[in-house]
Amino acid sequence: MSQRSCLSVILAAGEGTRMKSAMPKVLHPIAGLPMVAHVVKAAEAAGSGDLALVIGHGAEEMRKAAAKFAPKAATFVQEKRLGTAHAVLAARDAISRGYDDILVMFGDTPLIDPDALSVARRKLAEGAAVVVVGFRTPNPSGYGRLIERGGKLVAIREEKDCSEEEKKITFCNGGLMAVAGGQALKLLEAVGNKNAKGEYYLTDIVEIAGMQGLVVVATQASFENALGINNRAELAEAEGIWQTRRRRQAMLDGVTLIVPETVFFSHDTEIGADTVVEPNVWFGPGVKIATGAKIHAFSHIEGATIASNCDIGPFARLRPGADLKQKAKVGNFCEVKQATIEEGAKVNHLTYIGDARVGAGANIGAGTITCNYDGYSKFFTDIGEGAFVGSNSSLVAPVTIGKGGYIASGSVITESVPNDALAFGRARQRTLPGKGKELRERFASAAAAKKK
Ligand code: UD1
Ligand code: CA
Repeated sequence: MSQRSCLSVILAAGEGTRMKSAMPKVLHPIAGLPMVAHVVKAAEAAGSGDLALVIGHGAEEMRKAAAKFAPKAATFVQEKRLGTAHAVLAARDAISRGYDDILVMFGDTPLIDPDALSVARRKLAEGAAVVVVGFRTPNPSGYGRLIERGGKLVAIREEKDCSEEEKKITFCNGGLMAVAGGQALKLLEAVGNKNAKGEYYLTDIVEIAGMQGLVVVATQASFENALGINNRAELAEAEGIWQTRRRRQAMLDGVTLIVPETVFFSHDTEIGADTVVEPNVWFGPGVKIATGAKIHAFSHIEGATIASNCDIGPFARLRPGADLKQKAKVGNFCEVKQATIEEGAKVNHLTYIGDARVGAGANIGAGTITCNYDGYSKFFTDIGEGAFVGSNSSLVAPVTIGKGGYIASGSVITESVPNDALAFGRARQRTLPGKGKELRERFASAAAAKKK
């Protein structure tokens, strides 16, 4: 099959008014990735290298977004929304380049299983001209029904054009179709618009192909392949299904999720075996975790690279550019941004480390802040191997703490500290014997005088 050339035509010209959004519907994300990009991924996973994206509403924004998630895709504008067959024909120039297989998908149907596409392509390779990916549902209302005669698919009837008898059919069109490249244009051009909606239905090519004696096949896949997103409730439903699949995959890959339904992954999360994730953890985009990490409850992690056996949280925030080497620890109420925490270093409590390096085995005391920003520019803090930073210290960048440097608690460090030096950056303590008692008495008598 891999030798067969394949073009995927993804329809995304719809307005999506029910999203009530300034952003085109298909750009709304699932797991942090625009829903249409999930469709692109499925097409690519099924070996379809070439993509044609049919856009209409919000064309400029769509083109800009597509340049990121599908840089090789050709975009075609469907000026008037005259139906799904008309939309596919907007990509005529791509189709006429000549492909063995043409796949048609909807940009608002993001949970497509690449296997369903591969099965459809296989049917084309076996000689079918049109393959419809169907699904069964007890509640078929709104979907096109697959009309079979003698076990053969002869037509797809849209709900509005169905007879009462046909409405009872529970085998539905999921919206995925595969068409033999050599037949596609001829079939699409034969589609008319004499139906209840006055639209050019892609689904009509089934009947047209049958009448021409071409082979038409229906396959069956799960309902999720057909789950179209029209509003934000359906967006959340798709997100839920996506997350459920991803959690299951993570667990099968050797990750412990103690309460799986409270852990949220991104489309690109990489997480290694023997990682334990406690409840209520969020992974934003760009997270890579090696093996054996412990992610404690309520941690928020994005754009971070985490080496093996790290310990994170509870209530840790790792932001983009956080790079934790083996056995590093980032504990409760700590934030790390654009910083390397070297092997075995500990940042355990109430700390902000930004634009910095914390050397191997260093210990950062509670309440340490790297003062990395002066309101205009960012500056770097370099903390050497084995350094000790006492609690409640401010490290005013740019500044370097040498290897084995020792910072007294409560210091404001503005000058670099050499290797193995001890630095105090605070006023010296003065202790006045008996003065506490004297002060208390003075305050008490002043208060009593006021009351009189
Ligand atoms: C379509 C199918 C129906 C199937 C259902 C599955 C047709 C005629 N019907 O119905 O059999 O059961 O999907 O969800 O194909 N689009 C354009 N330009 C157009 C028209 C549509 O780009 O002119 C895009 C839409 O943005 C959408 C997709 O095509 O992403 C499907 O169109 P929609 O109007 O939602 O079709 P359905 O009525 O849901
Ligand atoms: Ca639809």
